[in-house]
Amino acid sequence: MTLYGETTKMLTVSDLAAMKRAGEKISCLTAYDASFAAVLDNAGIDVLLVGDSLGMVVQGEASTLPVTIDDMVYHGRCVAKTRRRAFLIVDLPFASYALPEQALNNAARLMREGGAQMVKLEGAKPAIVAFLVEQGIPVCGHLGLLPQSVNRLGGYRVQGRDADQAERILADAEALEQAGAGALVLECVPAELAERISRRLAIPVIGIGAGAACDGQVLVLYDMLDIGAGKRPRFSKNFMAGAAGIADAVGRYHAAVKSGEFPGSEHTY
Ligand code: KIV
Repeated sequence: MTLYGETTKMLTVSDLAAMKRAGEKISCLTAYDASFAAVLDNAGIDVLLVGDSLGMVVQGEASTLPVTIDDMVYHGRCVAKTRRRAFLIVDLPFASYALPEQALNNAARLMREGGAQMVKLEGAKPAIVAFLVEQGIPVCGHLGLLPQSVNRLGGYRVQGRDADQAERILADAEALEQAGAGALVLECVPAELAERISRRLAIPVIGIGAGAACDGQVLVLYDMLDIGAGKRPRFSKNFMAGAAGIADAVGRYHAAVKSGEFPGSEHTY
């Protein structure tokens, strides 16, 4: 892409796959607006995720459930305006992908209006993933702790601690890859399970609270910048501590992910 005479190269799903093959860690942060997206992109963050966590950290809701497809389109568009290099994933929100046609209409909006290069959906839904992929829509799966299912799970808890549950998550991950998913987010699972899954799959596995062996790491931006009230999850780290400012904190996160220094054992289950 040419911008003001400079050639900028936007990362693609193939670049992420190549990074996994080369053993280069993928850095990812959530982003919800144009200003932060520019800071993250300038710091070299590989993937921006417009997560439905925006319901909690931007809108002040108690969970991600109230977030609508219009909200996701709006925030996706804001982020897409200023990122230049980072790969852009946008979440399909709660109950927006229960049926194939509904999933297609909503995913198409995220790509057409929201600037998404890939959409993310939660849970073991290989049939929906296969349908979207067939229509040319790249899909990122999301397994482990599923915030959109918090009422069914009974809280935000580590998943896959017992052997049966771990085998189920591994099987679900393989099914998503088979269905054509191009990446997988693994949230709050024991590091050992995340390592098995990352080794087993050819697609990049991006962890949050899933240990250092994943192919990449993601954090909620506001958590790692220590913005907002409330207790931070164990797997997060305050990168503002000792940083000269926001850009420096993001740069430190990027460097710590690339070197494998983050997450440490204190951030791991
Ligand atoms: O919505 C979000 O921010 C996410 C991350 C927690 C992975 O899905």
